Amino acid sequence: MQVWGGHQLQGHVRISGAKNAALVIMAGALLCSGDCRIRNVPLLADVERMSQVLSALGIILKRHGDTGEILDINASEILTSKAPYELVTQLRASFFAIGPILARLGIAQMPLPGGCAIGARPVDLHVRGLQAMGAEVQIEHGICNAYVPGRNGRLQGAKIYLDSPSVGATETLMMAATLADGETIIENAAREPEVVDLANFCNAMGAEIHGAGTSTITIVGVSQLHSIDYTIIPDRIETGTFLVAGAITRSEFTLSPVAPDHLFPVIAKMREMGITIIEEGADCLRILRAEKLKATDIETLPYPGFPTDMQAPFMALLALAEGDSLINESVFENRLRHASELNRLGADIRVKGNTAFVRGVPILSGAPVIGTDLRASAALVLAGLAAEGQTTIQGLHHLDRGYDRFDLKLQQLGAKIFRVAAPSPDVELLTNNSNSPVSVSH
Ligand code: EPU
Repeated sequence: MQVWGGHQLQGHVRISGAKNAALVIMAGALLCSGDCRIRNVPLLADVERMSQVLSALGIILKRHGDTGEILDINASEILTSKAPYELVTQLRASFFAIGPILARLGIAQMPLPGGCAIGARPVDLHVRGLQAMGAEVQIEHGICNAYVPGRNGRLQGAKIYLDSPSVGATETLMMAATLADGETIIENAAREPEVVDLANFCNAMGAEIHGAGTSTITIVGVSQLHSIDYTIIPDRIETGTFLVAGAITRSEFTLSPVAPDHLFPVIAKMREMGITIIEEGADCLRILRAEKLKATDIETLPYPGFPTDMQAPFMALLALAEGDSLINESVFENRLRHASELNRLGADIRVKGNTAFVRGVPILSGAPVIGTDLRASAALVLAGLAAEGQTTIQGLHHLDRGYDRFDLKLQQLGAKIFRVAAPSPDVELLTNNSNSPVSVSH
């Protein structure tokens, strides 16, 4: 991807459906033996991969609509309980399907998703929760084998406490409990909007999930779910990324459809930096041209704290703010690798452990850089939009996993951004040349 920086943006950007809601709702469709129509599905490589995982299980999927934003899923028959290794290891979210597969079939064999560029990302909380619900779970040869003993093969409601409010574990267990026998209570549950969207989706199919969006979720198991037509929420991280694009290029434009409430910490921090964001109606935001960017500190936290997925874009923005900022990444242990790439563009960032010290600089200058994961790649594009001259960003495949036509949307706002030939294998090797494994999955 090549970006020529220094151009102001204007107009309107249309925000797509939320990636992390779409992926888990696709898994949630396995709970239903009827037809599920899911609308506002973003056009992403990760959605494509999740579709492949579901197809491999024998599920029927059909994408249609003007931009393919409607996805029909029919899971009346799940032909196998074993998900394919090559696909699951590429996409962490596909592991979450262990919940619905186990609930439907009483047996599931899921390859472990493994670590990725941003951290080790274990699945112990998913496993312990399923065990509390009566599943026998054994991990052998890299496969998580789970089955429900007993004649009816049905999970039992349980009281589950999560050591940390994991998004994925909350979703896995919520889906599993939907078809379980009796009541399940998940304490210290994740409160992310994507968890709420999954609960709304399941409830619309006849599930009984109460309290999603709070730390205690209660699920009363039902015996079956019915067909549904459901629209996914707007992507809060895509929205936040475009807000940073507006601030970093000192531009004014509008964004919709958005859910401003889901972005509360992001908007609050941007306002602290001196950026004006106006709500125009219930689902539209306008960002105004910022005169001056002020430094601020951020700490990533589970929702409603500042989202880890916005940390890299904010680092790009703070690199150009006046003064010193401190960023503390407390959700993932290895998610500051973009700092050194931003420094190649002239930023002044020092990293110690999980903290980045950002000393604002007046200008960035274009250079070749490499995105190490999805949000890191987006941050480098944002920095490139503000940098003088040309920035070439390698690692395009990361962007395509999680941003729906990012370059096209930026072009429509007037950015000078172009796709060039795919990175060579040498570049891939470079990307993988770090201390942590880079089988990237989001
Ligand atoms: N964790 C455990 N054990 C578990 C599960 C999680 O120790 O069993 C740890 C993780 O290692 C991590 C922390 O808990 O340090 C939080 O992980 P969480 O489970 O909440 O994250 P996730 O479900 O794997 C989702 C999103 C991520 C997003 C995080 C946090 C999906 C598909 N992915 O991951 O999205 O960063 O929640 O909000 O929903 C992205 O979109 O770029 C992305 C990485």
